[in-house]
Amino acid sequence: MKKIIFIIFTLVLLNGYFSLKAQTLKSDDQCYLCHEQLGGVADLFKKDIHFQKGISCAGCHGGNSKSDDMLEAMSKASGYLGVPKGDDISLRCANCHAKKEMMQKYGSHLPTNQLELLKASVHGKLSTTGKEKIVQCTTCHNAHGIVSVKSPASPVYPLNVPNTCGKCHSNAKFMQTYNPKIAVDQVAKYRTSVHGMLNAKGDPKPAECASCHGSHGIRAVADTKSQVYALNIPETCSTCHSDAQYMAGYKIPTDQFAKYTRSVHGKQLLEKHDISAPACNSCHGNHGATPPEVASVSKVCGTCHALNADLFSSSPHKQAFDKAKLPECETCHSNHEIMPATKAMLGVSKEAVCSKCHTETKSTKGYFVAQKMRNYVDSLDVSEVLALKLINEAEQKGMEISEAKFKMRDVHQAKLEARTMVHSFNEEKFKEVVVGKGLSVSKAAVTESQAAIADYFFRRYGLVLSILITSLLALTLYMYIKKIEEKQASKL
Ligand code: HEC
Ligand code: HEC
Ligand code: HEC
Ligand code: HEC
Ligand code: HEC
Ligand code: HEC
Ligand code: HEC
Ligand code: HEC
Ligand code: HEC
Ligand code: HEC
Ligand code: HEC
Repeated sequence: MKKIIFIIFTLVLLNGYFSLKAQTLKSDDQCYLCHEQLGGVADLFKKDIHFQKGISCAGCHGGNSKSDDMLEAMSKASGYLGVPKGDDISLRCANCHAKKEMMQKYGSHLPTNQLELLKASVHGKLSTTGKEKIVQCTTCHNAHGIVSVKSPASPVYPLNVPNTCGKCHSNAKFMQTYNPKIAVDQVAKYRTSVHGMLNAKGDPKPAECASCHGSHGIRAVADTKSQVYALNIPETCSTCHSDAQYMAGYKIPTDQFAKYTRSVHGKQLLEKHDISAPACNSCHGNHGATPPEVASVSKVCGTCHALNADLFSSSPHKQAFDKAKLPECETCHSNHEIMPATKAMLGVSKEAVCSKCHTETKSTKGYFVAQKMRNYVDSLDVSEVLALKLINEAEQKGMEISEAKFKMRDVHQAKLEARTMVHSFNEEKFKEVVVGKGLSVSKAAVTESQAAIADYFFRRYGLVLSILITSLLALTLYMYIKKIEEKQASKL
């Protein structure tokens, strides 16, 4: 075998003798010079960043790069390692890329954490062969022809990343051998998003796979350290979307994160760590990140606030908002800065959302209904306060009031239900809850606690009377005894 190789080599060498001489002026890397005559890998290596840094084939393959004798150059004795396979590949790269001193020798200040990150990442798990990691450095960067990651020719340049990840992630057969639960539609969906469409048009700035997931340290999405774990998502999106300079060329605001952190959702997620609250992707989608269309906002909100969405859909606003192309929930609640809802939103005062569209002269029916709805709520609130005050008073007087107290739970429930029932924008249905389940019960509790207090006074006055009578009796007895004593004393 070696003989055949040697003959081929000699022919090639004779053939390219003069051009070889010319190359020598540029480089004394014998591995390259000889292999250049062979074509293939060496052609790729010409534009390789390692070649430009003066790194020889031997930098990764070992051997003696100063020797023009193939057998000598590629002998075990001179440290030739051959073609690396499996995890050995990444170890070869790490031989420089994980060593600061080594990289500095070449004048490089790049980070030296790639292998470390990769080992701890989801791709650092063993592949199905059980012999090596799922990915090696070369899976994403190739082995020869490596260029700066900022060069459009790099497989990890933003425009090329989706295809690089898609090699595996769009391959259903391959992915099934690992984890059939992981979808294989990310690239396809990504291409339908605003990010993906701009990426396909050649704009490297919008998010691609690595901007959201990271590159070397990619984690499973359920891992709390993942960049796309629910609690970390707002931060991940905001690296671009809150950076006014980065987003300067685009005609969209950069206040989404700031507003979101002030919102009821942002506080629930970021401060209370409640992952049932929506992060950016709950409303925008993961790979199809697009603002929800006007008509689908309520569907997005409705995935969590199902009752509100159902009621809205059968309300008079459904058609009216559709016709005016108004987003359903957002019109009253906004999108990023959603505040806790209060009754101040309801009615015809200046702060009420209803008065934006309904006035005494415009959309008047809605105006009067809004006014009435607010009145019902106000009456219930007043009645509730009164009932709670009376119950408290009766309790302090030691009266048995548990039934009225229990009723107040129903009143509280009715109040909660009413906040949702608002979305029917229907006076009758709203009245049924506020008055039927709330006000009437609250009024009954008022009556009961008033009766208990009256009872208390009755009993209390009854006691005073009996004390009065007993004291009177005691006094008469005392006088009587005193009289007897006096009589006895006068007899002495
Ligand atoms: C004088 C010519 C010559 C020199 C010098 C030379 N090689 Fe080779 N090399 C060859 C030939 C010929 C082959 C076999 C044909 C092929 O695979 O392309 C080969 C094969 C290889 C292979 C593939 C081996 C395999 O198992 O598939 C590697 C890797 C390699 N050389 C690296 C090097 C390195 C590193 C050096 C310098 C230390 C070097 N070569 C120096 C001529 C040379
Ligand atoms: C940055 C590290 C690195 C450098 C520098 C490098 N190689 Fe490689 N080479 C590899 C790795 C890693 C593999 C195995 C990769 C694979 O299987 O995809 C490989 C595989 C090969 C192979 C066999 C498989 C193939 O692709 O044909 C040959 C031949 C080869 N290299 C020759 C060379 C030659 C010649 C040079 C210099 C001109 C060189 N390499 C420079 C890392 C390097
Ligand atoms: C899953 C794909 C993937 C794998 C595997 C991978 N890289 Fe990267 N690498 C990237 C991407 C994407 C970038 C682009 C910059 C970024 O987003 O960090 C990058 C950037 C780099 C850079 C530029 C500096 C930096 O850290 O950003 C170096 C150097 C690098 N990779 C080396 C390696 C080495 C060494 C390995 C193996 C230990 C490796 N890469 C494995 C995807 C990968
Ligand atoms: C002999 C040391 C050495 C080895 C081995 C090595 N590299 Fe490098 N690599 C370097 C140096 C030096 C640079 C240039 C760094 C710079 O420009 O700051 C570099 C640059 C890179 C870059 C471009 C980073 C950028 O600036 O965007 C990538 C990607 C890369 N190497 C990947 C690899 C991979 C993959 C392997 C293994 C197959 C490997 N390297 C093996 C030394 C090495
Ligand atoms: C705008 C940010 C963003 C971009 C761009 C993005 N992803 Fe994702 N990715 C996410 C989020 C968010 C999740 C899901 C988190 C969750 O389910 O809680 C996810 C989930 C995943 C998952 C695992 C979940 C599954 O079963 O589908 C894979 C695999 C994945 N992404 C790969 C990719 C690939 C490949 C690309 C590039 C084509 C990409 N992602 C682009 C944000 C992004
Ligand atoms: C060599 C094939 C391959 C390439 C290339 C690759 N991946 Fe993966 N990736 C996998 C496999 C296999 C898994 C599943 C690991 C497991 O859970 O068993 C995975 C898992 C993931 C997960 C975690 C999914 C989960 O369980 O939540 C994410 C996210 C991911 N990859 C993103 C990416 C991104 C982004 C890129 C490109 C920068 C990429 N991958 C490139 C094969 C690959
Ligand atoms: C790497 C930077 C980057 C990251 C990270 C990023 N985006 Fe973007 N995003 C952009 C750019 C650039 C645009 C294009 C702006 C435009 O629409 O003209 C964009 C567009 C959008 C749009 C469409 C806006 C519109 O109306 O046109 C939405 C929605 C969006 N991103 C949501 C997200 C979400 C959610 C995340 C996090 C899961 C995220 N983005 C992460 C850069 C990023
Ligand atoms: C509760 C749902 C929800 C959450 C959470 C959410 N958004 Fe939005 N987002 C929307 C809606 C609805 C729109 C507006 C659609 C319209 O009016 O056309 C929107 C619009 C956008 C736009 C387009 C430009 C703009 O401001 O109108 C971007 C970019 C965006 N969101 C990014 C984000 C980011 C980043 C986060 C997380 C910090 C986030 N969104 C959280 C619902 C949400
Ligand atoms: C016309 C204005 C308007 C529209 C449109 C609207 N809401 Fe409301 N929303 C209100 C008012 C008023 C309240 C009640 C405030 C109170 O009494 O506390 C409220 C309360 C809420 C509450 C808190 C009460 C509860 O049910 O937990 C949620 C959640 C809510 N709305 C979600 C939505 C969703 C989802 C949509 C879209 C399907 C939507 N809203 C559409 C005006 C509106
Ligand atoms: C992923 C689930 C989810 C999505 C999607 C979602 N929300 Fe919420 N929302 C929540 C959670 C959880 C809370 C906090 C509930 C609490 O305070 O107990 C909340 C609270 C609210 C509140 C305050 C309720 C109150 O009691 O004052 C309003 C209003 C609201 N959301 C409206 C919306 C609107 C409008 C949308 C769509 C643009 C939306 N939500 C999308 C889960 C969601
Ligand atoms: C964005 C504008 C807008 C807001 C805000 C709004 N409405 Fe309306 N509403 C309409 C339109 C348009 C109609 C369709 C009938 C009309 O034009 O009067 C309507 C119809 C109604 C109707 C049915 C009237 C009928 O003719 O049967 C009621 C009831 C109503 N709204 C109540 C409310 C209440 C209560 C609020 C506040 C919580 C509110 N609306 C907020 C625009 C709005």
